[in-house]
Amino acid sequence: MNIPHDEAMPRLLAISGSLRGASNSTAVLQAMAHLLEGRVLVEIALLHDVPPYNADLDGHALPDGVRRLKQAVAEADGLVVCSPEYNYGMPGVLKNAIDWVSRPAFASPLKGKPALIVTTSPGMFGGVRAQAQIRDALAASLARPLARPHVAIPAVDKKLVDGRIEDETTRQMLLAGVSDLLAEVAAIASSTAA
Ligand code: FNR
Repeated sequence: MNIPHDEAMPRLLAISGSLRGASNSTAVLQAMAHLLEGRVLVEIALLHDVPPYNADLDGHALPDGVRRLKQAVAEADGLVVCSPEYNYGMPGVLKNAIDWVSRPAFASPLKGKPALIVTTSPGMFGGVRAQAQIRDALAASLARPLARPHVAIPAVDKKLVDGRIEDETTRQMLLAGVSDLLAEVAAIASSTAA
């Protein structure tokens, strides 16, 4: 994969759509961070501290968890959103977090942010039915979900062993997505430097 080696390492924020302690989606992000160590800075964002969206709280004094998440998104060069599918869509906690970060509308930290979407499932479809919802919500916020083949990981629980992605095909599929994300990050950086 084509990952840059310069001193200014790209920074990715990896957001998990699952709050579960033993979440496969979070484990995929942790395994990804391990694979990229030394080449890409990866921060993992968990959504436990993000309360249900309430416009009454969406002012100068944001809830702490929301403020931290918005800052992390703002500081990242790109996002990796990894999530299970719940009832053929994205989990409410993920949609809720996107809603918080998406404000102010069309001028939020999500604006222009390239994003790779990864879905997982212990089942055979890899959570793929949540992909379009996640993509739409990000696009509504003017983020830039990558136009590329889906990264969807079926039978994810069988592919993770001791926190590593043991399955070579899955590892390559994920790294190909990350490579495309980093190419987008680099393209944005060179267009803003020009
Ligand atoms: C699920 N699960 C699930 N799986 C799937 O492939 N398609 C689906 O539509 C659903 N729907 C669904 C709804 C709800 C409410 C729950 C709790 C679960 C199963 C889900 O993929 C499984 O629990 C994963 O392990 C959850 O992801 P994490 O926590 O391992 O990342």
